[in-house]
Amino acid sequence: MSKNVNIDWSKLGFSYMKTDLRYVSKWKDGQWDEGELVEDNHLTISESSTALHYGQQCFEGLKAYRTSESAIQLFRPDENAKRMQDSCRRVMMPEVSVEKFIDACIQVVKANEAYVPPYGTGATLYLRPFVIGVGDNIGVKPAPEYIFCVFCLPVGPYFKGGMAPVNFTISEYDRAAPYGTGAAKVGGNYAGSLYPHELAVKKGFADCIYLDPMTHTKIEEVGAANFFGITKDDKFITPKSPSILPSITKYSLMYLAKEYLGMEVEERDVLVNNLDEFKEAGACGTAAVITPIGGIEYKDNLHVFYSEAEVGPVTKKLYNTLYGIQFGDVEAPE
Ligand code: COI
Repeated sequence: MSKNVNIDWSKLGFSYMKTDLRYVSKWKDGQWDEGELVEDNHLTISESSTALHYGQQCFEGLKAYRTSESAIQLFRPDENAKRMQDSCRRVMMPEVSVEKFIDACIQVVKANEAYVPPYGTGATLYLRPFVIGVGDNIGVKPAPEYIFCVFCLPVGPYFKGGMAPVNFTISEYDRAAPYGTGAAKVGGNYAGSLYPHELAVKKGFADCIYLDPMTHTKIEEVGAANFFGITKDDKFITPKSPSILPSITKYSLMYLAKEYLGMEVEERDVLVNNLDEFKEAGACGTAAVITPIGGIEYKDNLHVFYSEAEVGPVTKKLYNTLYGIQFGDVEAPE
């Protein structure tokens, strides 16, 4: 290990911490440069950058895990690379190749190896790749230049308490329009969620749940995570909509539910008026991993799933399988 860092791994939440080196690559005249690791955690960009004015940017989130043998592994980084390409295309930014994306992530993990939490702490190294439009420009059009950066920081649970049920409230606000940018991981989706999130927290909830903007009858997303429910006959259900962010964790859970736990899996409408069909529910994403949903408040009524205090058995099994694969304790699929 390169150096000793004085971190209480068990106390980590999801907060920024400056680590030693980050990767920066610049795009100009039609191509990305080689990229380099730098110490400075600030970027100097033109005051007229499209990322600042028109939200021309996107980001990703993935994690590095320390195994019991002290090796370090990334979880499906190729999927993050492809999703970032989709996001780049949606907001007219040059794509980063899958190879360049993965190489940048590996460089950053190796350069900050001391910050990869030890096995057994449950903490991980979170990687945040992003692309921003930069350079001098004022019209609403794609930027003349771009920066691709990957930085990292050690993290613990996204929601306080980690693998413990939390309650959510249904928001009156929309997260994304049906064919807007909801499926792309662009900052504007998250800027728009800050106010509804704040309202939910003030009411005593962990976050809010967004309904489909067209009819306000179907569950779409749980804050910055995807939704899943386990029906009374043990089916894994998750909403289907063009405005949901395609969560890599969600698709991984669909696979694990089917192939490892022998469950039926369906992507389909989840009606907010029919929550009774589920015996368990959860939020899933890279940051949230699996966060069990204790209850959902809708129209002044709290619908409790399995329990507000305990994790349901199917959610627990899904979590253990995913967590086991991510930390190298359970055999990953081919
Ligand atoms: C993630 O799960 O990586 C996210 O993007 C959620 C949030 C921290 C933005």
